[in-house]
Amino acid sequence: MSKRQNSDVREVYRRLWAYVAPHKLVGLVAVLAMIGTAIAEIGMVWLVEPLIDDSFVARDLETARWLPFAFALIFFLRGVTGFATEASLGWIGRSVISSLRKEVFGKFLTLPATFFENNSTAPLMSRLIYNVEMVAESITTVVVIAVRDFLTVLAAISLMLYHSPSLFLFVAVLLPIIAALVQVLGKAFRRYSGRIQDSVGEVAQVSNEVLNANRIVKIFGGHDYEYERLMEVDQRNRQQHIKLIYFKSFGAALTQVIFGVGVAFVIYFATEMSTKSTLSAGQFMSFFGAMMLLLQPLRRIMNVNATLQRGLAGGKSLFAVIDEPDEVNIGTLTCERVDGRIEFKNVGFRYDEENLQILSGVSVVVEAGKTLAIVGQSGSGKSTLVSLLPRFHDIVDGEILLDEVPITDYEIANLRSNISLVTQDVVLFNDTIANNLAYGQLRNCSRSELLQAAEAAHILDFVKDMPDGLDTIVGDRGVLLSGGQRQRIAIGRALLKDAPVLILDEATSSLDSHSERRIQEALDKLMQNRTTLVIAHRLSTVEHADQIIVLDRGIVAETGTHEDLLLQNGLYAGLFRMQFATESPESTA
Ligand SMILES: Nc1ncnc2c1ncn2[C@@H]1O[C@H](COP(=O)(O)OP(=O)(O)O)[C@@H](O)[C@H]1O
Ligand SMILES: [Mg+2]
Repeated sequence: MSKRQNSDVREVYRRLWAYVAPHKLVGLVAVLAMIGTAIAEIGMVWLVEPLIDDSFVARDLETARWLPFAFALIFFLRGVTGFATEASLGWIGRSVISSLRKEVFGKFLTLPATFFENNSTAPLMSRLIYNVEMVAESITTVVVIAVRDFLTVLAAISLMLYHSPSLFLFVAVLLPIIAALVQVLGKAFRRYSGRIQDSVGEVAQVSNEVLNANRIVKIFGGHDYEYERLMEVDQRNRQQHIKLIYFKSFGAALTQVIFGVGVAFVIYFATEMSTKSTLSAGQFMSFFGAMMLLLQPLRRIMNVNATLQRGLAGGKSLFAVIDEPDEVNIGTLTCERVDGRIEFKNVGFRYDEENLQILSGVSVVVEAGKTLAIVGQSGSGKSTLVSLLPRFHDIVDGEILLDEVPITDYEIANLRSNISLVTQDVVLFNDTIANNLAYGQLRNCSRSELLQAAEAAHILDFVKDMPDGLDTIVGDRGVLLSGGQRQRIAIGRALLKDAPVLILDEATSSLDSHSERRIQEALDKLMQNRTTLVIAHRLSTVEHADQIIVLDRGIVAETGTHEDLLLQNGLYAGLFRMQFATESPESTA
């Protein structure tokens, strides 16, 4: 392993330790309990000597009287300390899991939009669910090995030395062999642990897609393809796991075999020695018991690397998320309710360095309370432009001013509290219609405000037929509702928020023209006294805007009112004529 990797590993250790450190007191209980267990284990082996030599061979009545109590006591001690170990370590483990989860989840809430565009959700979820468990499990197991197993080994060795230093030599030669083995196998463990956790992410990814896209899978016959994809990632997961299992059990088996050689030597030489009678039967049995006591801890120590690597790999993947930079939020200005004058000043934008310029030199002023319509072919940058205002992305060139102040000067949550947004793909939560309307900071609105918004957005029209009314659950992402119904909820949400700035990005695209006309009233009401940026593919909805800009590949090609633009007879006039031709038969029907 290189120096760099070494310091990485140390860093991960150090950071993981920070999650355990607050639980020092419980940790102390665990350590004491494990010391107790080690004492109980060795005590039992130690008592074998008086058991055989004094009780059985010498028939010493005194010993025969206290020995049963001693054994009972030892088992009692083992029971108590075993419980205390499990309970305290379990407690620490679960606490570590929950702090890691809180931290990663908290991070999900503050990461910039770009992060979610560039990372798939399922692997992120599997980190939150699976990797945190691995980390905690690894921490507690390693602690057990480091304390209990280490102490047991130490005590067993001491007892063997006490009984017969010369016999111990035969055991001692085995220890470096086993240590070398631990080293070699550790490398393999490191390799597989990270891969296993990644492959769990892949399984999550594929299943997530199938679960969400089950209709597309059905209609386009994606069954076999998806099945094979799952087989493939599952196969990878299985292979890595199996390799790890092979290495682990091979290591354990090898320890056993090496150990067996030691046992053979010990038995051989002990019987040799017993002819010279330096070792009593009880002493030998106690020595032998101590040696046997070594086996389990040694096997676990063999695997400590596997466990450790699992924790490190998990820790690394979690810290990678935790270390992602948050949204830039250095603005301090807060304003309860802005007037709503918006100015785009020579705005240029690119999604990232390598990508092509999406917007360039966009300049437009929207006075407070006025409406700006943005028109253009799909892919011309309309959605991108409006998403810059709530700072889903930060601009590359130019400036965006809200009430004459750069939007980056506002505290980001405050800026967003002044903006309402209705988009084409409505996001609903698996909750009631009422809770979807009153989402987030709208939670505290009154029932009458809620009803008012529901009425205005024509939600009551379809809700009144539902048995649970506004308390009907909408299903994941609102699957139990129609597209138009979902869109009305989004509009109702914006009505309820009552922010001074409103963004409508194809807000009525899921509605038929009949519903759209009815919703248009709600929208008109919504747009009153608000600065509105509206993107609509039906030009009938933009006709009345105070100002229209036409975007063409990220550049403002035309600016003016509906009448101005028709007169200019440019792009807008073209789009308008085209729509008029396709839509007029429908509207007369
Ligand atoms: N998150 C993104 N990352 C990279 N490119 C994007 C992203 N979102 C949109 N684009 C690109 O930006 C361009 C403008 O997209 P968009 O603003 O959505 O257009 P419109 O809303 O006018 O249809 C498109 O070429 C699209 O491919
Ligand atoms: Mg768009």
